[in-house]
Amino acid sequence: MPNIIKAQSEEQFNDIGAGIIASLLQSNPKALLGLATGSSPVGVYGRLVELYKEGSVSFAQAQSYNLDEYVGLPVDHPESYRTFMNEKLFNHVDILAENTHVPLGASPDPAQAAAGYTELLRQAGRIDLQILGVGLNGHIGFNEPGDELQGFTHVVTLDESTRKANARFFSSIEEVPKQAITMGIASILQAKQILLLVRGGEKAEIIARAMQGPVTTKVPASLLQTHPNVIVLADQEAGRLI
Ligand code: GLP
Repeated sequence: MPNIIKAQSEEQFNDIGAGIIASLLQSNPKALLGLATGSSPVGVYGRLVELYKEGSVSFAQAQSYNLDEYVGLPVDHPESYRTFMNEKLFNHVDILAENTHVPLGASPDPAQAAAGYTELLRQAGRIDLQILGVGLNGHIGFNEPGDELQGFTHVVTLDESTRKANARFFSSIEEVPKQAITMGIASILQAKQILLLVRGGEKAEIIARAMQGPVTTKVPASLLQTHPNVIVLADQEAGRLI
């Protein structure tokens, strides 16, 4: 069973999430961090920036590997996950740019970029702490529900529901990329510890299915039940059914 923490307030959610990441960096400054985008981690990253500015945490020796990236958006596009990470975290802390890794969705050959990322992760070794969010359809990273899931980094075609959910960040749904590169389920499950961040009432049902329902490729987040060290950090609304 995952360790479920229900935060009483947004502030507490961010404090607890950032605290888990900061404690890891304090005990292991060379930690390998698996990072996620989406709205759920934004406040946690904001709190981490504050902890860095207060001198409580340093990323100087850490390495980061992001979960996923859209295919076809230029790296500096405002909605690329590379831009997101730069703006929400990397530009404000002492992590070295060369130690931050995001799949190269802008590559002319995304399949090759995905294979390269798998190799990069293999060479890096096990991620110490993998941050995750969950999609409304139960996806983790961009591993969409289906009859089968892939183990390693690969190119995916996004579900229409995912494109719709993410359209709020673009001026129209047509602009949301149709494909992405994502770390696969095996890579995610290899992490030593996983921190799943879930916010908002619309996630209550999917997180309950993922944590308490059957383990199935139709709900990719349910595979997290097979991992021995998962923390689910939920706000009151998202955690109401678990
Ligand atoms: C996107 C990302 C996922 C993320 C999900 C949930 O689809 N690819 O990695 O977990 O959104 O995002 P949010 O936290 O905004 O609900």
